[in-house]
Amino acid sequence: MKYAATSVLVGGLLVLSVGRCISTPNLLQLASKSAHKGKSNGKISDAPAAGPQEIADYRKWTLVNPTPYYVPAPRAAQCARTILNPHDGKFIKVYVNDIGQQAMLTQKIPQFAAGSVIVKEKLSQQDSPTPELLTVMIKREAGYDPAKGDWEYMMVDGTAEDAENRGKLGYCQACHIPQQEQGYIFRTYLPDAVRENLR
Ligand code: HEC
Repeated sequence: MKYAATSVLVGGLLVLSVGRCISTPNLLQLASKSAHKGKSNGKISDAPAAGPQEIADYRKWTLVNPTPYYVPAPRAAQCARTILNPHDGKFIKVYVNDIGQQAMLTQKIPQFAAGSVIVKEKLSQQDSPTPELLTVMIKREAGYDPAKGDWEYMMVDGTAEDAENRGKLGYCQACHIPQQEQGYIFRTYLPDAVRENLR
């Protein structure tokens, strides 16, 4: 009887923790970790920092929303309380590389080709020169993660030098997979003139 009760309890906890909303580590904490990196040994390296190659020079790509888009906080999403939305309560700017540009800006149901990369800058203020955090989606070759659209997710510090975490990140997928019918992306920030012309 005692065992039965225990397993019911454990089972219940499991259900709670693996339910619809996966709890997440504090993304901001993860992201700010890097601020101190490299200085701990007192040496400053002369070598230019080499960030993730996929997003080198992303600021030269197409800026999807020329006016920074304000993301209201908290978002009325079902998961907002348990999943820390890395985008909430901030301004965002979204960039897309050449490969992904057409899908992003012209297709109603975007079909991103492998090699498409989307970078979202999170800014504390509309005119912040340096973002706080970058969140990135990279469309990989077919077979990378076929059930989930073959997207890789990545979180990078604001200087684009340090990928804090990347891969098939469950806490990113938790929000982006329900967007499957829209190519796994939201595009809330798309300028009206662009949205009206999606085909
Ligand atoms: C709580 C839900 C939620 C989570 C978790 C989440 N996102 Fe998003 N993401 C959104 C929403 C909503 C947008 C659209 C911008 C907005 O309005 O906030 C977005 C936009 C994006 C975009 C721009 C492309 C698009 O969808 O329009 C990228 C890139 C992105 N997210 C990457 C990530 C990464 C990487 C993670 C994990 C570190 C992540 N997201 C976690 C909700 C989420």
